[in-house]
Amino acid sequence: MSAALKIDEFNLLDDGECDARIVAAKNILGKRLAILGHHYQRNEVFKHADFTGDSLKLSQLAATTDAEFIIFCGVHFMAEVADIVTDGKRTVILPDLAAGCSMADMANLVKVKKCWEEISQILDPDEKVTPVTYINSAADLKAFCGNHGGIVCTSSNARGVLEWSFSRREKVLFFPDQHLGRNTGVRMGIPLEQMVTWDFMKPRGGLTDDEIRNAKMILWKGFCSVHQMFQASHINNFRKQFPEGKVISHPENNYEVVQMSDVVGSTETILRTVRASAPGTHWLVGTELNLVNRLADEVKSKNITVQFMSPTVCMCSTMFRTDPQHLAWVLDNLVAGNVVNRIRVPSEIAKPARAALNLMLEVVD
Ligand code: 13P
Ligand code: SF4
Repeated sequence: MSAALKIDEFNLLDDGECDARIVAAKNILGKRLAILGHHYQRNEVFKHADFTGDSLKLSQLAATTDAEFIIFCGVHFMAEVADIVTDGKRTVILPDLAAGCSMADMANLVKVKKCWEEISQILDPDEKVTPVTYINSAADLKAFCGNHGGIVCTSSNARGVLEWSFSRREKVLFFPDQHLGRNTGVRMGIPLEQMVTWDFMKPRGGLTDDEIRNAKMILWKGFCSVHQMFQASHINNFRKQFPEGKVISHPENNYEVVQMSDVVGSTETILRTVRASAPGTHWLVGTELNLVNRLADEVKSKNITVQFMSPTVCMCSTMFRTDPQHLAWVLDNLVAGNVVNRIRVPSEIAKPARAALNLMLEVVD
């Protein structure tokens, strides 16, 4: 082991030089290394991933890999999940520690505990409410769910997780994404009036006692800053231009966009559906730009057209933080025997968080 290499030196390298270093380091580390890449990663990073997927697939891959080092090209909560499901037995690395998720940051333990406490002034939440956290959340919120009979979900298994939750308790507190919660609830036949929004900036979520008492789902007022860009008007314009066209969107989109879409699903579902569509299909896709551009390139030879839903460029700026420079930096450090940017969840948080995550992995496939 030598002194850790500094990121500053790598920031001066161009992408080509980084590519060469990444390939060389991967060759040296061989099976000791697994690079996981989320679909929102930019091409320059995505092409180096050994495995790609949505949040669920990547957490399953992390749980089953034998690799000693997992480099997670994604965002912070994903790397935390990898550390939790591997019980700290793997070294999980996030190339840029600033790669967070603005939606995940909209809920924190203090505010969720306060919400639980405020609900307990009206009913006993540990008897009547299952806390469900979207995987896009900090580890301590997953631990909160583990400690209160709750569970984690992703965008691809939210329905199964909610069915499990309602089979145990009559209500669900869903955080941090109101849209995934509402869109899934609607698909299950829960009336909109029975889904109330908890405004975490207001006392008692801005709700009356009756609203809390009568609600089936209490939805945290969080959202994704990328998906909020997609609007019903974009779909209307598309349908006027291409009446035969199809619309596919992620369930983090707002209620109207989801209602107007032909297909709704996780990033993995979006890719699978578009790839399997008939030649000549014209798609409007409501999810992050890097995925959409890559998919458009991939399927154009099959005469499938893919169009981004928003007229303005919007990508996930935190996913974008992982660049070839950071990837080369963490890899060259590993080759030199140095671990930089390891993500480690303290055991008192990891244990209950693991319980809630394992429940998700067992309950829904
Ligand atoms: P997926 O689990 O569908 O990949 O979604 C992750 C995400 O952050 C979407 O914004
Ligand atoms: Fe978070 Fe939205 Fe980025 Fe997904 S796209 S990681 S939810 S900010």
